[in-house]
Amino acid sequence: MSDQEFDVIVIGSGPGGYVCAIRCAQLGFKTACVEERETLGGTCLNVGCIPSKAMLQASEKFEEAVHGLDKFGVQTGDVALDLKGFMAHKDGVVADNVKGVEFLFKKNKIAWLKGRGKITAKGEVTVGDTAYKAKHIVIATGSDSMPLPGVDVDEKRIVTSTGALALAEVPKTMVVIGGGYIGLEMGSVWQRLGAKVTVVEFLDRITPGMDGEVSKQMLRILKRQGIDFKLGTKVTGATVGKSGVTLTLEPAKGGDTETMEADIVLLSIGRKPHTEGLGLEEVGVKVDDRGRVEIDGQFRTNVEGIYAIGDVVRGAMLAHKAEEEGVAIAELLAGQAGHVNYGAIPGVVYTFPEVASVGKTEEQLKEEGVDYRVGKFPFSANGRARAMNATDGFVKILADAKTDRVLGVHIIGAEAGTIIAECGMAMEFSASSEDIARTCHAHPTLNEAVKEAALAVDKRPIHI
Ligand code: FAD
Ligand code: NAI
Repeated sequence: MSDQEFDVIVIGSGPGGYVCAIRCAQLGFKTACVEERETLGGTCLNVGCIPSKAMLQASEKFEEAVHGLDKFGVQTGDVALDLKGFMAHKDGVVADNVKGVEFLFKKNKIAWLKGRGKITAKGEVTVGDTAYKAKHIVIATGSDSMPLPGVDVDEKRIVTSTGALALAEVPKTMVVIGGGYIGLEMGSVWQRLGAKVTVVEFLDRITPGMDGEVSKQMLRILKRQGIDFKLGTKVTGATVGKSGVTLTLEPAKGGDTETMEADIVLLSIGRKPHTEGLGLEEVGVKVDDRGRVEIDGQFRTNVEGIYAIGDVVRGAMLAHKAEEEGVAIAELLAGQAGHVNYGAIPGVVYTFPEVASVGKTEEQLKEEGVDYRVGKFPFSANGRARAMNATDGFVKILADAKTDRVLGVHIIGAEAGTIIAECGMAMEFSASSEDIARTCHAHPTLNEAVKEAALAVDKRPIHI
């Protein structure tokens, strides 16, 4: 094969694309990955999961130093924020991660084709002036922030998550449009650093799609932390003035409009698939009504030899979902049984406390007419949570009433995103709540609340 010929060309080096490329290389394919950013790792490593988590972690430390350590008998003097140092931490974490992917590409002999990739024919991807040939093309071009008519993003005053990851100073006031993952995480960061944050959400609840009981509890806790919410409200316009932004708000169900001022507005109403300039129309790859590349159960588009994974296709827009798909398509191309269990993909909101879920919500089970039992256990009755001064929240397990199989787990509490892992594993093995209840959990750990919730499904928790 010449330097311009590959078994697999992956377009996009986010968690879907880079993981796919590595797995392809492991399986013996001559692999290339096209990436137009200056660094590898996609949205996730550059302007998504990783920088936001670095900022969440650092702002949590700051918040704790200001308000939380005295509860442990630790006295601090004046605590001050060094925003430059704060951002340097975030930038350092990003740099280490993106360099890590570059190292992995070299280790696995994956060619990084730098520039914008366009599918110019079946089996052909053009980058710059060079046309590369490939037996298989995997589209992993990810997603972009969803625009809102009347709210023009300038990434200075009206920002997407990308701008919110790099503000030069702490705003006095911030309005977040959309009470989903990004709004609540980035809103929490800037609230902890001193901004007065108001979340404007179209629906009557935050985190749509999450279990209703968890969502309600989260709303209560975030309000207590000082975040304001305007639910059932839509933003119809935003004007940038000298000193800030003036927003026009309207009740979602219609009614009188009102205005609101903010130093910074964060637009976070969802993300849309990124397919511009990819050549899909020219080669005849179908997209659905939401612009997502259409695929079958094996990631095949309607054009032979072209596949798609990650945020650009249907399903949750999550890094680990993209990674699983990246591995599965590589294994399918190698004739193996690549497979993703979409029923056991966890979702985590990294606020404090965290919210984590896997499987079905109670609302979904009701809608599907499934007969289920609920086991709940509050962290206020967990010894480790008390030791951590982190007693907010609970674990809720939903199990099939007849078979006892775990159908869903929903957690709000400190480290919920870590705790949920055992629940995903349990669901992967089709465990019953009795299986979890009979599993010895180390003491004292937050995970004991999972065991107790499993015991509570059968009405026999020990510690409550
Ligand atoms: P992406 O990561 O979007 O990567 C696609 C890449 O393709 C990009 O680098 C882009 O430059 C490149 N590309 C696109 N078109 C072309 C082209 N024609 N030629 C060359 N290159 C191209 N998910 C989680 O699971 N956990 C989190 O904590 C989390 N936090 C997030 C925080 C924020 C602020 C945001 C915005 C997202 C977050 N996500 C999180 C979502 C996560 O980032 C995405 O689900 C994930 O990155 C999707 O991976 P992907 O590989 O499909 O695409
Ligand atoms: P989102 O889908 O999580 O939330 C968007 C929110 O905006 C919803 O609550 C929706 O009802 C609301 N909304 C929609 N239109 C509106 C309008 N006109 N006015 C007011 N509210 C409106 O989207 P978000 O937060 O932008 O994040 C995008 C995606 O990125 C997430 O869905 C998730 O897949 C991923 N992500 C994941 C994270 C994680 O795993 N921790 C963190 C950040 C992002």
